[in-house]
Amino acid sequence: MSEKAELHFNGNVYELPIVTGTENEKAIDISKLRAQSGLITLDYGFKNTGSTSSAITFLDGEKGILRYRGYSIEELAENSNFLETSYLIIYGELPTKQEFDQFVKDITMHTMVHEEVKNILDGFPSKAHPMGVLSSLIGALTAFYPNALDPNRSADEVNISIIRILAKMPTIAAWTFKNEIGHPVNYPDNSLDYCSNFLKMMFSVPSDKYEPDPVISNALNKLLILHADHEQNCSTSTVRVVGSSHASLYSSVSAGISALWGPLHGGANQAVIEMLEAIKNDGGDTKKWMAKAKDKDDPFRLMGFGHRVYKNFDPRAKIIKKAADDVLAKLGVNDPILEIAKGLEEVALNDEYFIERKLYPNVDFYSGIIYRALGIPTQMFTVMFAMGRLPGWIAQWKEMRENNEPIGRPRQVYVGENHRAFVDIKNR
Ligand code: SDX
Repeated sequence: MSEKAELHFNGNVYELPIVTGTENEKAIDISKLRAQSGLITLDYGFKNTGSTSSAITFLDGEKGILRYRGYSIEELAENSNFLETSYLIIYGELPTKQEFDQFVKDITMHTMVHEEVKNILDGFPSKAHPMGVLSSLIGALTAFYPNALDPNRSADEVNISIIRILAKMPTIAAWTFKNEIGHPVNYPDNSLDYCSNFLKMMFSVPSDKYEPDPVISNALNKLLILHADHEQNCSTSTVRVVGSSHASLYSSVSAGISALWGPLHGGANQAVIEMLEAIKNDGGDTKKWMAKAKDKDDPFRLMGFGHRVYKNFDPRAKIIKKAADDVLAKLGVNDPILEIAKGLEEVALNDEYFIERKLYPNVDFYSGIIYRALGIPTQMFTVMFAMGRLPGWIAQWKEMRENNEPIGRPRQVYVGENHRAFVDIKNR
């Protein structure tokens, strides 16, 4: 017998169905609430509101659990690689050897970017933040692949759009960096794997052929896996809402990149490093900065701490923290801000303000320290987040389209002026 909730209002009782997920999460289905009662719900930031039902990622914020298509993030980070995990997230199953080899071959054949994209890139000043350039160039792919404009074309057409954006993201991402430093771009080297190819396009210069270090490439693979999807976060919800108007995959991902850029979301990984640098330059007094983070009159927040869903350790932060020690040791990098980060974490985890609000390190707290050790510049950290999150955005957009979900259009409660007559300017 299906469970129901009752809403008592104005002397009426309204029955609302309860939806139960495969992990026993329960939700009140309010799709008929307004028709039945004239009421809508109000939930700033959608803190208590589900926008959809999804089979892609499960996370339990209280227990610190994260799974892609049922596989734990710990096992995938340890045993998989980014393209294999991307295939799993997008198509729903781990690929067979033959499926994986074909997927890699398809992507490899599409790493080149139309030469005229460089004309658009050259239009950006060299100090342009890479995230703004990335969002623009991904959106510009619609100009080169007009068939991608209609998401209702054949499944094959949608799939080639998926392959193209996965394949071209590293090339375009590396180009945003080269534009920022005023260097000539590099073209893909298809003899390399996905992450090594990206690193070579990032760091190779005509006078010095860069050979990717497997330690760096493996660390990057793990970081991209950890960022690959995270259910209905801000940027993914953006991709779904933009895609719900039947906008193209490229336009939807371009919007998702812009949403991710914000310092409260993916932009936090850059903000964390800037914060740690400020603390180091200020003499490393973590207690002083903790006090600022708790001071309601001070806009400063401890970047990389807190999460809308995780009220326990972000499982990704645990994995990244361990990887940071491993990677820095392997590379022989001794970065003083790693010790400052660990010191901040230690103080915060024993501080009543943070304990009471269940504020723990999130995915962004340690990731920047590894990116830095890999030689990736701070301005590129959120571009790395976007590269990692791309398969998640693709899968969520694809799921929304395949489920033929309605256009996203929330309601509101109006709190403005009541009706009033127009007054001519002569009489105002
Ligand atoms: C990501 O959603 C996702 O899944 C996102 C993500 C993904 O993979 O897609 O996990 C990636 O975006 C991680 C989060 C990165 N952002 C940051 O690290 C920025 C710093 N963190 C915060 O701004 C904040 O914690 C958020 C934005 C992450 C979550 O904010 P919420 O859920 O809206 O919580 P809130 O702002 O209402 O905070 C609750 C309380 C408040 O205090 P009170 O008003 O109750 O007294 O906690 C305080 C906040 O002031 N608080 C913090 C804090 N985070 C929350 N105080 C100091 N430092 C912080 N970092």
